[in-house]
Amino acid sequence: MTAASACGKIILLGEHAVVYGRPALAVPLPQVRATAEVETLEQGEAGAVRIEAPDVGLSTWLHTLKPDHPLAKIVHMVRQALKIEDHPALELRVRSSIPVASGLGSGTAVSVAIVRALSKHWGVPLNTEQQSALAYEVEKLHHGTPSGIDNTVVAYEQPVHFIRGEAPKPFSIGTSTTLVVGDTGQRSNTSVAVGNVRKAWQADTARYEALFDRIGEVVDRGRAAIKAGDLAALGSLMDQNQALLQEMGVSSSELEMLIKAARSSGALGAKLSGAGMGGNMIALVDAAEAGSIEKALQAAGAKWTLTAEVGP
Ligand code: MEV
Repeated sequence: MTAASACGKIILLGEHAVVYGRPALAVPLPQVRATAEVETLEQGEAGAVRIEAPDVGLSTWLHTLKPDHPLAKIVHMVRQALKIEDHPALELRVRSSIPVASGLGSGTAVSVAIVRALSKHWGVPLNTEQQSALAYEVEKLHHGTPSGIDNTVVAYEQPVHFIRGEAPKPFSIGTSTTLVVGDTGQRSNTSVAVGNVRKAWQADTARYEALFDRIGEVVDRGRAAIKAGDLAALGSLMDQNQALLQEMGVSSSELEMLIKAARSSGALGAKLSGAGMGGNMIALVDAAEAGSIEKALQAAGAKWTLTAEVGP
């Protein structure tokens, strides 16, 4: 049996504007992971792949899935990339501890875990950039215009400064930095959120371009604050980013409730993370206060919380 895994992700600053060419910062969330296991089957036709993905209630053969099903697409893409034309029947088992449709990169992590497990199983290694590029093809199924930040941070498993169309710049965070993540329990549908922003941008391009520019400035200042180890400044920039995301129309009353609860219990800053309109929020906190802020989020309705150290 061959196994591999991939982490979840958090967008620290810059979601949505990153689709329109502005910079963004993302960090891996290694505490939650997707895993893929590959095993050769004694029986079954050559080329057949049995897929077991109990988290999404899927137990079937690959050939029964439409070619644009995310799991089918990634298996086909890996075979093509590795030039595997025929192989003994396989079982592919996929599990994930990343909440689904919540802005934490669950779909991306599943793709990267499958790429890693299959390439390991077939003995053809793929580098990080190749893993990221294959997962990007699946991202396109979820929404037409992915920036590529999600597959990049998940494949690199390192903080990245990302600008669409440019080589990603991985970096490390030198200061102990603690984030508390809180899930509204509302599904965050990336394609709906990204589609809504696109319609709004088409209807009022000047206003949205100005919002994206302001987010880009927040990201640049955020990168400088991280370099300087200035967490108070980073927290305030997260608040500013949230105000701009709210103006863009991608927040929700549930997200606002959790963000307010985090701030009023001592967070240095808080914002939604990912596509929004539900899903998760993040709060930058003092490590000593993480437990009480998690409790405050739960009291305010969070369905799931997690404390993540993203520093050195
Ligand atoms: C989703 O994690 C981030 C978005 O900016 C979409 C993208 O960058 O493709 C909302």
